This record gives sequence, C-alpha cells and structure tokens, in this order.
Amino acid sequence: MRLVVLGARGMLGQALAWRLADSPHEALLWGRQELNITFPGPGAAPRFKPLREAKPDAVINCAAMTDVDGAETHLAEAIEANARAPSALAAACQEIGAHLVHVSTDYVFDGTKTGPYLETDPTAPLNAYGRSKCEGEQGVLKHLPTAAIVRTAWLYGRGGRNFVDTILKKAAEGASLRVVDDQRGSPTWTHDLAGALLAVAQKRPSGILHVTNSGHCTWFDLARAIVEEAQALGRIPAQVPVTPVASAEFPRPAKRPANSVLDNSRFIALTGKPLRPWREALVEYLKT
Ligand SMILES: NC(=O)c1ccc[n+]([C@@H]2O[C@H](COP(=O)([O-])OP(=O)(O)OC[C@H]3O[C@@H](n4cnc5c(N)ncnc54)[C@H](OP(=O)(O)O)[C@@H]3O)[C@@H](O)[C@H]2O)c1
Repeated sequence: MRLVVLGARGMLGQALAWRLADSPHEALLWGRQELNITFPGPGAAPRFKPLREAKPDAVINCAAMTDVDGAETHLAEAIEANARAPSALAAACQEIGAHLVHVSTDYVFDGTKTGPYLETDPTAPLNAYGRSKCEGEQGVLKHLPTAAIVRTAWLYGRGGRNFVDTILKKAAEGASLRVVDDQRGSPTWTHDLAGALLAVAQKRPSGILHVTNSGHCTWFDLARAIVEEAQALGRIPAQVPVTPVASAEFPRPAKRPANSVLDNSRFIALTGKPLRPWREALVEYLKT
C-alpha cells in the first residue's frame, strides 16, 4: 500500500512513522513543510497538488490544531485546521480515489452519558476544540462518505507533550501531585493507535470508529499508575504522594467532559481484537 501520513511530525504522526519503518508499505511522511493543510491558496487545487501527484492508496490525517485551551481564544484557527482543511482534504481524496483515515477525538461528546460512548451517540462538544473537530468529522463524511473517522482519546507517546511524561518528570523531581479525579477516559499509547490506524487503512471501513486502549480510569488513577509503575521499573527513586482533586480546583479555559470512554466494539469486530489494556500499554511505554 502506498500511504501518505499528514501531520507526520506530531506525536501520533511520529508513532506512525516508526511503525511504517518496519512495514511493507510505501510511506510518504509529510509534515507542515511538505503539505500545509490550511495553505491559504485559492481553492483546494494548489493546496493538495502534492497529494494528486503522489497518488496514494490511502491518506492518514494526523494534522490538527490540538491546543484544547488555546482553541477557546483561537477559534478561527481551530476551525480552519480541524474542520475546513479536513473537508477540503476529503474532497481531494475523493478526486484521486484515495481512502482517507481521519483522526478525531472523544471531546466531541459532552460526557453526560453513564456508559461508554457508541459511534452513533449524539455529539455535543463542550469546548471550541471539540466543536471544530466535530465539524471536521461532518465535513469529511460529506465530501467523502467512504472515509474512516477514527475517534481516539488521552494520547501519550514519544515526541510530544503529554500527561504521562509530565507526571514522570514531576515525580522524578520528588514533587507531590494533585490530579483531577472527576474526568474518566481511556489512556491510549500512540504506538498502539498507530498499529490500529494502519489496520483501518488496509481494511478500508467507512464511517466512524472508536479506537483506544482497553479499560478506563480517571486522570488521578492514571497518575497513580504512572508513579507506581515508574518506581517498580526504577525510573523514579521513590513514590510521591498523588492526591485526588476536583476539576473545579483547576479551572481551565476549555471545559472537559466528565466521561469520554469510547466503546470499541466496531473496531474489535473489524480487526478481531481490542487494543491491549491501558495499564499494560503504559508499562510498555515506560520501559522504552
Ligand atoms: N493528543 C491527544 O490526547 C488526542 C486525543 C484525541 C484525539 N487526538 C487527535 O489525534 C490527532 C493527532 O494528535 P497529536 O496528539 O499527534 O497532536 P500533535 O502532536 O499536536 O500533532 C499535530 C500535528 O499537526 C501538524 N499541523 C497542525 N496544523 C497543520 C497544518 N496546517 N498543516 C500541516 N500540519 C499541521 C502540527 O504541526 P506543527 O507542529 O508545525 O503545528 C503537528 O505536527 C489529532 O487529530 C488530534 O485531534 C489527540
């Protein structure tokens, strides 16, 4: 398969690059320099010229404006990168006959559901980032109904700012930690998600799919697990105390959903197996 990865220098894009280095696929790894998806040219034609020339079988779009709090004050930028550009990209993929795998987020939901969210549950984003990603999903499917939208959540991995590395650093400095205990989701290692995205690109399903590591926890549970596992692996000298707190104690510009656990049944039916449990993936990440 000839594959283009957009946003290839981001955290998820780099995980895809590492996976693809070991695969039989022909991969074109494009960052902003190779293809700026929000290039302000006239119409979609000049923007996606490199894609038309490359003629890939599939495109995986990891490019996005991912600053959740920043999107509250830079809404136009978020809409451009997360909604308008993916819609134009979908139109270009339609034209060249490439399958599109577009990455989206759990933040399209408002978190009021008690159980895991299904792909068919109504979206109701609480923040500007979620609204822009939601609009992007709709735009992609409007221009290319055969596209696959992969919603994922709580990513961490090499080469990007993320919660796991932040907690590790603070724990290594011996700092005690206060972490919110009223937001529940599924921590997901970019390495595992990258493998799933390649499977989706090969199987070419249409519509929305939820893909995360299995199981769920709160940010507090995750922080405690990082500290316990890092100490067991000798990555930090001693365990530091982790205290659960309410989100209200850490006011942030963007509101986050209380529950954004995603039901992965459709992905499991497609590939025959779930991604491994989040804690197993975390231990593997801490070992690398
Ligand atoms: N991180 C999470 O917890 C999380 C959770 C759920 C879903 N997601 C989704 O997962 C995907 C990947 O996220 P990530 O964590 O890997 O984010 P990331 O590290 O911020 O990577 C995003 C990449 O997109 C690039 N980009 C931004 N605007 C671009 C443009 N106009 N043209 C080309 N490239 C552009 C960025 O390049 P620059 O550095 O040059 O700006 C960056 O390399 C996104 O769709 C995100 O919404 C992430």
